[in-house]
Amino acid sequence: MLSMEDVKHHYFFSETDAALLKELLPIARDNCDRIMDEFYEYLMRIPETAAFLREEKSMLRLKRSHAEWFINLFSGRYDQGYLHGLQHIGQAHVRCGLNAHYVNAAMNVIRRCLIELLQATFPVIEQRRKYRIAVEKILDINLDIMSSSYQEEELRKVFLSR
Ligand code: HEM
Repeated sequence: MLSMEDVKHHYFFSETDAALLKELLPIARDNCDRIMDEFYEYLMRIPETAAFLREEKSMLRLKRSHAEWFINLFSGRYDQGYLHGLQHIGQAHVRCGLNAHYVNAAMNVIRRCLIELLQATFPVIEQRRKYRIAVEKILDINLDIMSSSYQEEELRKVFLSR
């Protein structure tokens, strides 16, 4: 089992990246509602994901969870607790029967929103580059850890079926 230190090492994720992400926290907060609206618009457009978003009561709770995850990308703290949190998130999606494909596609929406936000905030490419690299790393790390929950579930099924 990999530790968060291993994961960060493999992605060349440094303390500088952590600090850069933390610097982005205020703009992430300011744009969270708009990006979450785009995220949910996207999820509602696809029948397979919209099916998970039918109940209005649980929608409020779910929207809060997704927004918290988004803000937490910029906490500046990426320790073992962060890794466990992402494993828990991955398992929640496996449990509710969501195909991993939709998590990957949804992450692409978040990535695009963040890249556009960086382009609007830092029009000069030399200024923007370091933030973009840090954002790409943390999104890839998130997807990596969440995807491993799906792989583990598949392995578990194979062993149980023997
Ligand atoms: C739960 C994040 C994609 C539907 C959650 C939770 C988080 C989260 C933080 C709360 C987990 C918990 O505390 O138990 C993400 C991220 C995604 C993503 C980072 C990709 C960027 C999706 C997609 C759908 C979806 C594509 C499709 C509709 C759900 C549902 C739950 C959930 C239904 C509740 C699961 C349960 O009943 O415990 N997600 N999510 N998520 N997410 Fe996502």
